[in-house]
Amino acid sequence: MAVPFTASDAARLDELDPLRPFRDRFVLPEAVTYLDGNSLGALPKRVADAVGEAVTRQWGEGLVGSWNTADWIGLPQRIGVLLAPLIGATAAEVVACDSTTINIHKLVTAARKLQPTRDIIVCERTNFPSDAYAVQAIARATGASVIEADAHDISEAIASAGSRLAVVELTHVHYKTGYMYDMAAVTEATHRQGGLIVWDLAHSAGAFPVDLSGCQADFAVGCGYKYLNGGPGAPAFVYVARRHLGLVDNPLQNPGQNPVQNPVQNPLPGWMGHAQPFDFAHEYQPAAGVDRMLTGTPSVLSMVALEAALLDWADVDLAQVRKKSVALTELFIRLVDEQLEGYGFDLASPRVAAQRGSQVSLTHPEGYAMVQALIDRNVIGDFRAPDILRFGVTPLYTRYVDIWNAVDALRAIMHDETWKQPRFRTPKHVT
Ligand SMILES: Cc1ncc(COP(=O)(O)O)c(C=O)c1O
Repeated sequence: MAVPFTASDAARLDELDPLRPFRDRFVLPEAVTYLDGNSLGALPKRVADAVGEAVTRQWGEGLVGSWNTADWIGLPQRIGVLLAPLIGATAAEVVACDSTTINIHKLVTAARKLQPTRDIIVCERTNFPSDAYAVQAIARATGASVIEADAHDISEAIASAGSRLAVVELTHVHYKTGYMYDMAAVTEATHRQGGLIVWDLAHSAGAFPVDLSGCQADFAVGCGYKYLNGGPGAPAFVYVARRHLGLVDNPLQNPGQNPVQNPVQNPLPGWMGHAQPFDFAHEYQPAAGVDRMLTGTPSVLSMVALEAALLDWADVDLAQVRKKSVALTELFIRLVDEQLEGYGFDLASPRVAAQRGSQVSLTHPEGYAMVQALIDRNVIGDFRAPDILRFGVTPLYTRYVDIWNAVDALRAIMHDETWKQPRFRTPKHVT
C-alpha cells in the first residue's frame, strides 16, 4: 500500500518549488489558505502603487492631460502587448476592453456575420451562463439555430452541423468541472466544416500556456480578474487572428498575400474603435487592426491595475506554471482519495491531467454549507450551484501546504460535522 502523503511532504515540495519566490509578489493574509484565484486573483503588490500613482498624480495633478502624458489612451493596446505572449498571440491581435460577457457578444456576433450563408452555432450545454445567453440571443437575432452538446460530444455536434456550421463557441476550461478541451483538435474540427471558433479563455489565460496561433484559433475572449490578477471587475480582452483583421504577415516577404476582403467588424461600433477617434467623423471608419473591437472609453483605473498585474508575468516560465498546476491538482486529488473516503464526495474534475485546467472540483449535495464551514476556517474555495465545491490552483502563489491545509480542513469539518451548524446554511448573495 502506498505511504500516505503528510504535511511535511507538502512543506518539502514547497522548498523545492522553482516558482516559490513569486508568492512574495502578492499580498496574501498569513492565516489564509487561498484557493479561489480562479474567481478573484490575489492582489499583486505592485498594483497598489500603480493605482495610487494613477489616482494621486495622474488624475489628481495631471487631470485630463494624463490621457496624453500618462498615455491612458494607449492602455488597451499596452495590455494587449503584455497579454499576447500568455495566450500565443501577437500584440497586434489582442486588446483589453469591456467585460468577458460583452466581448463574447461582440465576437460571436462578428463571427456569425462573417458566415452569412451558414446558420448553426454550436455551444456546450453546460457552458457558463453568459456564454449560453449570448449564443441564444445572437442566434435569435440573426436567425441561426443552436446545437448544444455535452463536452464529450462536441466533435460529433460540429461534424453533424456540416456545411451549415457558422460558429462554435466554447469555454476552453469548464468553470465548474475544470474539464479542458483539446483546443487544437476542436479548432481543427471546426475548420474542417468551414466554421469559425470563439474560445472563452476565462479559466485559461494565466493558468497555463495557451497557443491560440499554434491552434489556428479564430477569436478568443478572456477575463482579467481571475488568473491574471487584475483586480475585481478587471477589464477583459479580445483576440482576433490577424487573418480576420486583414493584416498581412510581413508584406515584403509575402507580396502575393492579400489582406482578406472581408475583415471582422465590431457589432458595437463606437468612437474608440474608429480609425481616427479625434476626427469626430459622422461616418464610422473602423480602425485598421484589433483596435476596431474597441467601443467606448477605457476604464482607466481598472486598466492601470491590470497592466501592473501583467508586468509580474514578464519573467514567468509558463511551462513551469503548468507543471506546478498539474502537480498541485494531482496532489489535491490524491489527498481527497486518501482522506475523504466515505464522506460522500465525488470528483467532478477529470482524473486525466491533460483534460484538467487549474482547479479541482468535488460534488456533494451539502456542498454550500461545507464551503462556508471551510471559509470559517480560513480556507477559501467557492461553491457553484447545485453541488460543486470548487478549488482553484494558481501556481504563482498556491503552495503545496495550501493543498494539504484545504483537504485536511475538509476532512476535519466532515469528521466533526461542523458543517451542519445552521450558520453555514445562510445563503449569501455571492457563493
Ligand atoms: C467561463 C466564463 N465566461 C464568462 C464569464 C463572465 O465574465 P464577466 O462577468 O466578467 O463578464 C465568466 C465569469 O466568471 C466565466 O467564468
